[in-house]
Amino acid sequence: MKSRIKYICTNCGYDSLRWLGRCPECGEWQSFTEEIIETKKNKDVSAKTLSAYKLNDIPPASEERIKTNIGEFDRILGGGFIPGSVILLGGDPGIGKSTLAMQVASSIHKTVLYVTGEESVQQIRLRSSRLNIKNEDLYILAETDLHSILKTVKSLNPVLVIFDSIQTMSRSDFENSAGTITQIRECTSRILEEAKKAQFTALIIGHVTKEGIIAGPKILEHIVDTVINFEGESGSVYRILRTQKNRFGSTNEIGIFEMMSTGLEEVKNPSSIFLGSRNINNSGSAVTASIEGTRPILLEVQALVTPSHYGNPQRITTGFDSRRLSILLAVLERRASLRLSASNVFLNLAGGVRIDEPAIDLAVCCSVASGLLDKVVNNKTVLVGEVGLGGEIREVSSTEKRILEAEKLGFQEIIIPLSNKKAFESGSIKIKRVSHLTEALRLILG
Ligand code: TYD
Ligand code: MG
Repeated sequence: MKSRIKYICTNCGYDSLRWLGRCPECGEWQSFTEEIIETKKNKDVSAKTLSAYKLNDIPPASEERIKTNIGEFDRILGGGFIPGSVILLGGDPGIGKSTLAMQVASSIHKTVLYVTGEESVQQIRLRSSRLNIKNEDLYILAETDLHSILKTVKSLNPVLVIFDSIQTMSRSDFENSAGTITQIRECTSRILEEAKKAQFTALIIGHVTKEGIIAGPKILEHIVDTVINFEGESGSVYRILRTQKNRFGSTNEIGIFEMMSTGLEEVKNPSSIFLGSRNINNSGSAVTASIEGTRPILLEVQALVTPSHYGNPQRITTGFDSRRLSILLAVLERRASLRLSASNVFLNLAGGVRIDEPAIDLAVCCSVASGLLDKVVNNKTVLVGEVGLGGEIREVSSTEKRILEAEKLGFQEIIIPLSNKKAFESGSIKIKRVSHLTEALRLILG
């Protein structure tokens, strides 16, 4: 075996023989770190002819999932853990990853091993008493050497192994220290191999910094089966679990939790929370119904429009794509004759959620128009529709679900695209259809 030095981009994993100031792959500056790479001799000699399966001859695998009984968590996984799969749980430090992992570990009534490289067993004990955990089959191991950990796994034979965190684990057959790209990548591949062989599920925790980097999670996304992110606005007690990649389920699901003094509580009815602290007499506020995964969520879009005294008006968003906002502002200006080029626009999705669904466009446009004209949108109205560049209101999916959710929460009126013909007229909520932005604005703001 011979070893040599390579330079690896900590952002995307691109490797180079020379140090580079800027990564040619992802464009990141100053992201290269030195890593020792060990290369084995060419092993072609040991290659042999294998027998391949005919697709129809492969016996169907029993896709038996292990339920954690934490509904929000099971749902985002697509119905529970798949034995032998590897899940990466990423998130900012302090967001609650260890807490979530601990709660998941304790709610499976089977053998679970929790490996921690970050805390002592006493600290884990302290947390578990806070969370009121009583699981007879939960084992704790404070260790960072992966080979020893996997040996322990073999003797314990658990259904779930939690690695908290991957940045603290290391393999003694590599010279690099824990937390380097090589260690993170090699440890994960080894865990993956072992999980497939012994059919346990590995839940790997990875820290992510504010910029979404730190050596690790980015590179692991390709290796693991499922990537879930734990997010939350600082200062908010709500936490959102989002699947970013899932080989065994949909990637649109989100799970919502509230951080309490006794751990994370599932939020079963998110709409009522997102609308909970709404000030209904403010201009610049509009309610929309978004579909997250399979579930409708009602939420408030808030816009603050102020005169800009300098040439360059500000456009700042939280929870919404800022480029999308710029486009919608241009549409409002051009197609609905609203003068916004001399105004600062601040847009916020209340409650700390982030939504990428175009169906909330109409609510965004109406909240901005409402803010600009200082006219209040009826607080019993929900707005749904994608806005096209011509100002036309385009069809959205799952209208029924949105209508029912709005009705359930006591809204009296919902505005939907004219092209959504199928939407039924149900009980108490009035359905209005619009085909153009100006029509919607006239209807809402007079
Ligand atoms: P933790 O799970 O340690 O975060 P991570 O592993 O992502 O770094 O949780 C950190 C925060 O959660 C910490 O600030 C304390 C808070 N917390 C609660 O509010 N309630 C609880 O029951 C627990 C265990 C933690
Ligand atoms: Mg932790």
